[in-house]
Amino acid sequence: MIRKVRPEDFEELLNIEAEAFPKSQYDLGQFWLLYENYPNTFLVEVSDLIDGYIVFSLDGHLISTAVRSERRRTGIGSRLVQEAIAHCAGKPLCLEVRVGNVGAQEFYLALGFNLIGRAKGYYHDGEDALLMERPAEGRAKES
Ligand SMILES: CC(C)(COP(=O)(O)OP(=O)(O)OC[C@H]1O[C@@H](n2cnc3c(N)ncnc32)[C@H](O)[C@@H]1OP(=O)(O)O)[C@@H](O)C(=O)NCCC(=O)NCCS
Repeated sequence: MIRKVRPEDFEELLNIEAEAFPKSQYDLGQFWLLYENYPNTFLVEVSDLIDGYIVFSLDGHLISTAVRSERRRTGIGSRLVQEAIAHCAGKPLCLEVRVGNVGAQEFYLALGFNLIGRAKGYYHDGEDALLMERPAEGRAKES
């Protein structure tokens, strides 16, 4: 089941985050900020545990996503991104991914994203980002 995040989820999310992004994980304060800034588009996939999360903005920027390591390759990440695609109907979706994160790049390519550029030294440790974009799908939602 996919639902909006709740503050009581943060502890589990911190564990997912630590194994997913050892070089640049979010801390508790950053999860609170994301929760406040993206109240409707910070989502979690839940079974007996929190299996993964995604945060995106409605203008089509995918901010972060991660899946619990032992539950990867079971379609959870794809479901979360499909949720973002549905929320951002009619707009392209864009994201940044570390050049060294080849697994995530394969994941996004499988979901219809294209490589559109590179941002030099984008991450705080100096690693470059690849910029990826998925063309708009569906009609924009009435505001
Ligand atoms: C990237 C991530 C979110 C993918 O989540 P997931 O739930 O494992 O993805 P899915 O099961 O939906 O994968 C769908 C398809 O994407 C591709 N894919 C996913 N992970 C892949 C990997 N590590 N290597 C190559 N292809 C991959 C495959 O085609 C896969 O289909 P298959 O399993 O039938 O071969 C997950 O690996 C993760 O949390 N990684 C660490 C955090 C991270 O890198 N986040 C993205 C930062 S920009």
